[in-house]
Amino acid sequence: MILVTGGTGLVGSHLLYHLSVKNDKIRAIYRTEASLKKVKQVFSYYTSDVKLFSKIKWFKADITDVPSMKPAFANVTHVFHCAALISFNSKDYREMRKVNIHGTAILVNLAIDAKVKKFCFVSSIAAVGDALNDNLVDEDCEWNKEQDNSGYSITKFGAEMEVWRASQEGVDVIIVNPGVILGSGFWKSGSGKLFTQVFNGFKYYTEGITGFVAVQDVVKPMIQLMESSLKNERFILVAENKSFKEIFYKIADAFDKKRPYKLVKTWQTELAWRISWFVSKINGVAPLLTKYSARSAHNVTKYSSQKVIDAIDYKFESIDATIQRTCKNYIKE
Ligand SMILES: NC(=O)c1ccc[n+]([C@@H]2O[C@H](COP(=O)([O-])OP(=O)(O)OC[C@H]3O[C@@H](n4cnc5c(N)ncnc54)[C@H](OP(=O)(O)O)[C@@H]3O)[C@@H](O)[C@H]2O)c1
Repeated sequence: MILVTGGTGLVGSHLLYHLSVKNDKIRAIYRTEASLKKVKQVFSYYTSDVKLFSKIKWFKADITDVPSMKPAFANVTHVFHCAALISFNSKDYREMRKVNIHGTAILVNLAIDAKVKKFCFVSSIAAVGDALNDNLVDEDCEWNKEQDNSGYSITKFGAEMEVWRASQEGVDVIIVNPGVILGSGFWKSGSGKLFTQVFNGFKYYTEGITGFVAVQDVVKPMIQLMESSLKNERFILVAENKSFKEIFYKIADAFDKKRPYKLVKTWQTELAWRISWFVSKINGVAPLLTKYSARSAHNVTKYSSQKVIDAIDYKFESIDATIQRTCKNYIKE
């Protein structure tokens, strides 16, 4: 029996589709009925066969709540842990610690008790350190706790520590560290917002560079790594290193919309996040821009996925092809 957490999110829903093609025993947790509609929508990008969705046995559970999670582990041999809270708002830091670190600790304890064979955790490039000189960041670059890390980065690193504990207690583990994940279905959150913003005529761009990857190129290696004899390793999943400018231009071109045309300088975002913070203190609404989202827009970091390419002979789709497909799905809805 396979157990999936976060199955109602971007990664988890695409993972569930790919798992359902080959497997009959899949259990996934959910918190609200409404979130299941999004999963059905994601399945509809791939198939009109409703039998695949009905293969999944849904359990109502919260990863921070042991009594709700315990029954979900009955007869489970493999766990794909995709659930997390992603936020760059400092107000969410406590909740992120609870969901990302404490929630993962709960899953690890239950996996150890249930003698789960293999546990796959979706971490992030945010939990990998910087490279020396101009080298590409790889899996050996250690996360530096002395740096000014975002709360999200701290909690993803903390969650990885819990997963390594599972490996010490006899559960084989795989950790994947994806870059910014591009995919269809979640247009109001995460990277899905990039598509919505550009479609609606977003004017601004920055020249920061980071790693991007299609959601399919996250979930397929996860499945392959879980089926392989590889264990207790982590793998960066980045198809290409691109600037936000290039990504915005490609999305605008695919939508046949005007490209963003106002370059935003570092000093402007430094000013903007401070104003945004001040306004949020007065009106209590979440800030539009935070210190860490502002800085990541200008940061230049390039990643290497050579380890996963060599380990399972994986071929990543080009970001051009990913953007073309994702924009087509956006327009269809
Ligand atoms: N998106 C990216 O660009 C990106 C990049 C690198 C790494 N990652 C990592 O990839 C993983 C999946 O991200 P995503 O983009 O799929 O996120 P997402 O779309 O925001 O989905 C998050 C999932 O976690 C679930 N969840 C949150 N808190 C929970 C709780 N207390 N109990 C049970 N489920 C809970 C959500 O359930 P509800 O539907 O009930 O809210 C949802 O299914 C995360 O670990 C994230 O850190 C994402």
